[in-house]
Amino acid sequence: MVDEQSLRNKIDVSEPSGMKLVEEIERLKTKKNALILAHNYQRAEVQDVADFVGDSLELARRAAEADADVIVFCGVDFMAETAAVLNPDKKVLIPDAGATCPMAQMLTASALRRVRAEHPGAAVVLYINTLAESKAEADCVCTSANAAAVVNAMDAETVIFGPDANLAYYVRRRSPKELVVVPERGLCPTHHQIAMEDVEAARRRHPGAKLVAHPECVPEVQDAADHIASTSGMVRFCREDAAAEYLIATEIGLLHRLRREAPQKRFHAVSETAVCPQMKMHTLPKILRALERERPTVTVPKETADAAREAIQRMLELE
Ligand code: 13P
Ligand code: SF4
Repeated sequence: MVDEQSLRNKIDVSEPSGMKLVEEIERLKTKKNALILAHNYQRAEVQDVADFVGDSLELARRAAEADADVIVFCGVDFMAETAAVLNPDKKVLIPDAGATCPMAQMLTASALRRVRAEHPGAAVVLYINTLAESKAEADCVCTSANAAAVVNAMDAETVIFGPDANLAYYVRRRSPKELVVVPERGLCPTHHQIAMEDVEAARRRHPGAKLVAHPECVPEVQDAADHIASTSGMVRFCREDAAAEYLIATEIGLLHRLRREAPQKRFHAVSETAVCPQMKMHTLPKILRALERERPTVTVPKETADAAREAIQRMLELE
């Protein structure tokens, strides 16, 4: 369990966000023909300055379609790498190079090769939350928006799947395939800490509110949910559903989009400490600096990028 005060200290939630900063970002964006892509967990002011805010699948699609010269990616390393793999001729910038997803580090390419050797004939489907070198070993990539559909589309009866064991639980309940999960206990620390006790406490505070969860949550929270979806899927559900009040089991950054897109409804975080520190590293001053200096850049070695691109493109073509 993460202590809230130390998290807040680490994240520096008091970062200033003046109009001047926004104007300067806009000016440089036009001058350099840049596109700012932001994930749904970004700070509110970063979401507000972005050209597009979305989940991993939507961001991969936007990156694939981009005709800008520069992409400023406000998300974590694997997302920016995906944009770089899909745009080998463009400059991909990440405002803070320290924004690395701990889950993506949990599965190495060599561990994957070992498991593959033990299961000849199995297909390999990797969650997009993996590094490009692991994706290069996969048959297909998936996101939280399409994980079960991608697994079900594989020719093989056995599918090697990783690195999130909670997402694997979600897929197993929606697929007849035999899943070999690698590593056995891969997880997202931010989602894994959202416990059933948090759900019960939130339900006591807001009786009657619907529970909407991300599939990176633990099985008990998934089982208790009225709806499970990717971050943008959660927004779509809440927008279209008839209820007036929701408990949200994911990273708290999603609340900004929910409240903006469904202002007439009430949203409550199941856990206020469900914060992804890496996602919160990007700030307006860092975006401006990245645009000015055109770094830090995100690059992937050609051979790895070519192999990873096939697995990503296969997913994009499946839909
Ligand atoms: P989504 O693709 O659902 O936005 O999830 C990304 C992620 O990292 C969740 O922790
Ligand atoms: Fe990775 Fe979890 Fe952060 Fe998503 S919320 S980027 S899975 S650590």
